[in-house]
Amino acid sequence: MPVVEAHGARIPLVGLGTWDLRGKVCARMVEAALKLGYRHIDTAAMYGNEVAVGEGLRASGIKRDEVFITTKVWQSDLKARDFERSTKGSLSDLKLPYVDLLLIHWPNPNVPLAETIGALCKMKRDGLARHVGVSNFTVQLIGEAVKLATEPLVCNQIECHPFLDQSKVIVASRKRGMAVVAYSPIARGRATGDAVLARIGKAHGKSATQVCLRFLVQQQIVVIPRTSKTERLKENFAIFDFKLSAAEMTEIARLANPRGRVVDWGGSPTWD
Ligand SMILES: NC(=O)c1ccc[n+]([C@@H]2O[C@H](COP(=O)([O-])OP(=O)(O)OC[C@H]3O[C@@H](n4cnc5c(N)ncnc54)[C@H](OP(=O)(O)O)[C@@H]3O)[C@@H](O)[C@H]2O)c1
Repeated sequence: MPVVEAHGARIPLVGLGTWDLRGKVCARMVEAALKLGYRHIDTAAMYGNEVAVGEGLRASGIKRDEVFITTKVWQSDLKARDFERSTKGSLSDLKLPYVDLLLIHWPNPNVPLAETIGALCKMKRDGLARHVGVSNFTVQLIGEAVKLATEPLVCNQIECHPFLDQSKVIVASRKRGMAVVAYSPIARGRATGDAVLARIGKAHGKSATQVCLRFLVQQQIVVIPRTSKTERLKENFAIFDFKLSAAEMTEIARLANPRGRVVDWGGSPTWD
């Protein structure tokens, strides 16, 4: 599995997203993904599925140090004491001594960023996370966070797919050596029905969804598609045996539009 390197972190380019997966389905999907070759699982305290993710991990029989596990601290837990409690709760649910990557899930303007970043970095120093990073951070917030951080911030996890132009926040993240992790990378299923992606896919013997994911990984953007169906795990993973041409990449980039967001956060359409 190819990886993206950022400040010493080696993040597998494809991971399994687990938002909305619960209980037995979640455990089964994590186990199946790992058995198929996935080595990266994305969860969050807010998803309420860390117990199931831990079960799936153990059931897979894959060694702990071969899997990259990300979790996140929710917006309501960004004060220092809450942050530590949330992180310890995640580890207790996962039954793990550490995660590979711990993220601030969404910024909270009502809590000083210095306090949250301080708490995040402490989690790394205390050994509860091998690496730390952020999610849903704007260009401006990235700059502020990097100035405050005593540990390297290794990624910014953002909504990213062909229907949304995230070039400014991608450039800003990379300028700080941060990897970009794309959430909702297939735009919550929208990619599947897109005519341009389907046409390009046909030429490569691939599905529209695979073209969508390939478009991102070909730019060294990590993708974490979510599925509740075993057969789709395989489809979403089989994206390293073809290459999109420069002309195809340009055509796909043109799908971006100002109403492209699929995750409504009540804010501006991009993270500029
Ligand atoms: N940091 C954040 O704030 C944040 C926000 C949102 C998401 N995330 C993370 O990113 C992950 C992925 O994002 P997402 O769940 O929002 O959306 P997504 O991965 O873009 O899309 C998931 C949807 O696509 C369908 N799907 C998956 N594979 C498919 C395929 N091969 N063909 C057709 N349809 C397919 C799934 O349905 P089936 O289950 O029926 O396959 C599901 O409805 C999340 O699970 C979560 O881990 C993070």
